[in-house]
Formats: sequence, C-alpha cells, structure tokens
Amino acid sequence: MASVAVTLLGRDRAAFLPDVVWRSDGGEYARIDRHTDHAAWRDAADADCPLVTQWDDGADENSAGKPTCSLSLPTAVRRMLDACDIRPGQRVLEVGTGCGYTAALLKDRVGPEGSVTSVEVDPVLAAAARERLDAAGVAVDVVRGDGLKGWETSAPYDRVHVTCGIRRLPSAWLRQCPDGVLVLPWGSSHEGRDNRLVTLTVSDGVAVGPIGASLWFMEARSQRPVPWGEWPDTGAVTKAELPVSWREIDAAVTDADRFVLGLLLPGTRLWASGHTDDEDGRVAWLERAGEYASVGFGWSVPTTVAGDGRLAEDFARAVRWWHDHDRPPADGFGLRVTPDGEFACEEVWFGSPDAPVRLR
Ligand SMILES: C[S@@+](CC[C@H](N)C(=O)[O-])C[C@H]1O[C@@H](n2cnc3c(N)ncnc32)[C@H](O)[C@@H]1O
Repeated sequence: MASVAVTLLGRDRAAFLPDVVWRSDGGEYARIDRHTDHAAWRDAADADCPLVTQWDDGADENSAGKPTCSLSLPTAVRRMLDACDIRPGQRVLEVGTGCGYTAALLKDRVGPEGSVTSVEVDPVLAAAARERLDAAGVAVDVVRGDGLKGWETSAPYDRVHVTCGIRRLPSAWLRQCPDGVLVLPWGSSHEGRDNRLVTLTVSDGVAVGPIGASLWFMEARSQRPVPWGEWPDTGAVTKAELPVSWREIDAAVTDADRFVLGLLLPGTRLWASGHTDDEDGRVAWLERAGEYASVGFGWSVPTTVAGDGRLAEDFARAVRWWHDHDRPPADGFGLRVTPDGEFACEEVWFGSPDAPVRLR
C-alpha cells in the first residue's frame, strides 16, 4: 500500500520511475531493478523516500559516485508544493525536471487553463521526462537548458518552483517572475547539500521571505561545492586582537548551526580542526573568494591569525553577533533578494525583513 505522503500527492510515482533506481534507508544504496525484483521496485515507488535515478551526470550507472538526479522525498515535495501555493490557471516555471514527477504535480495544480514549463540541464533526463509525461497524458513543456537562466520564451511566470539546491539566486528568476512566489532549496555558503526551504514573495522584482525547514537536495550543476584543495602559504602567524574570547570562538564553531555561520559570513567557507582539549589548540580555516585566513585558539594557546586579516575579522564579528543575539538557530532568519547582474544580491535579515544583519 502506498505511503500517506505519496498518496496525498495524488499521482502514482511509478509512472515516472526509471526501470532501475537506488534506494537508501539511511545506509548503503540498494540497486533495484524493475525486471528482476518488481515487488521491491513497486515498494520503492510507494515509499516516502527519495530514489536516486542517476549517478555522476549519467557517466556510468554503476560508478556509484555522486547522485545527480533523484525522485525527491515525497514529504519534501509536498512541503514545497504547499509553500508554492499554486492556483488554477497560473503559469509556473520549474527548474530541474528530473523524472518529470513534480512537473506533473505542478500541472495537476494549475489545471488545463494554466501552464508548466520545466527546464532540465541534462539532455538525456529531459528527453526521458518528456516521454513519461507524454505517456501519462500530462501537458508540460519540457525544455533542455540551464534553468539558472530561467526560460524567457514563456515568461512571465506566477510561480518558480526549483528542485535543485541553490547557493546563489539568479536575477533571471526575479525578472521572469516579477510578481509571484519563488520556492527553492537554498543553502548558505558553509553547507554542501544541506539546504533549507526558502519561500520568497516577489513584488516589483524584489523577493522577500523566511528561511524554513531543512531539506536535502542535490545542487544545481554549476553550483556544486568545490573541494578545498591545497592550503596556500598564508605567511606569518600573529597574535590577534579580536572582539571575541577563545571560548566564544570555540562555542560558535562547535555548537552554532553551521548554516547560521554561513548566513553571517556570505560566500565564506569554514572548517574547524582540533578539539577543545587539544594542548596545541584548534584552528578555524576560512576561505572567501580566493582569500584565505586561519584563526588559532584554545585554552592553553594565544589566539592567533594568519592570512587575510579582514576575513579573520569578519569571522570574529560573526561569532560576536551570534553570541550577542543569544546564539540563534536558522529559524528566524530570512532573505531579501534584489536583481543585480547575473546573480541577485541576497541580503540576510533576522527577526524581520526590516532588520538586515550587519556585522560592520
Ligand atoms: C532532485 S532532481 C529533480 C527531481 C524532479 N523534480 C523530479 O520530480 O524527478 C534535480 C534535477 O535538477 C537538474 N539540474 C541541476 N542543475 C540544473 C540546472 N542548472 N538547470 C536545470 N536543471 C538542473 C538535475 O539534472 C536533476 O535532474
């Protein structure tokens, strides 16, 4: 019997499932082939779980490297559709067609008078989704392209529904949906695949909204995290005068929601090594737009800085801000997004859209 989450969505996932999928219930991925184990495949279709449908952009189906397409977790799909608040007759842009399942659900919601344009970057996935939607009798316009550019031809849209993780929001979506709602899995700079559901109400091309629940989504192709690589020579280590104690730095890198540190330090990556009881102390490693800094701290060592002083200071200011605001979690923050070149300007607010977070 199908799970409640899948049933509530109103369409059989099986109609959109490839013959081979990978299912993980927390551990290793199990490969499930419809032809050799139909019962397991059917069970996977009905379960409230994500199903991987492509690895490594389709390079080798047996490589089991990095999942690059999936049918998303039905509970998460439902949450995103609810947030999108779709009405009959609306024009919707979807980014990330994948198997076409959410495109069909969007079309169910806009009805015969509405339209859904779904953009998929991968040509093989786009063609397969088009076939499945046609077979299911669902009229969705599937186009092959980079969804970060939107799809100008069918604009303007009332809704933009994004099903790949976004680190930087493209201005094109605001221009193509100047008055409507944008729903997307959005991540701050620190986290790889950890996203949060961001629902933005767009008015006159300016988008405002809260940061919501955690969601796991694979990233947009061009916004995948880049490995740290070799740490460059950042020169002499100097004793630092920072507006935070070593204990406060330690608490922030240990206890703060990493997502929140990412919000406070846009475009910055942070990694902390060591443990509180290390005699040599710990190090917070920071990188922002090709600039590097490290901050050493601990109970038996002086606090030191190497590398880009401004980056180290911004890190200390973010730690200060977090303590001064009672160490908040990610709920309570939001975004105000304005068009600005290819990628929009994303301003983080806390408590209210009128209260932008300012560290300086
Ligand atoms: C989680 S899957 C989407 C699930 C899909 N909505 C479904 O119902 O099956 C993410 C999809 O986003 C696609 N994608 C990644 N980057 C993209 C981009 N820049 N433009 C369009 N699609 C993209 C991936 O190829 C993948 O198919």
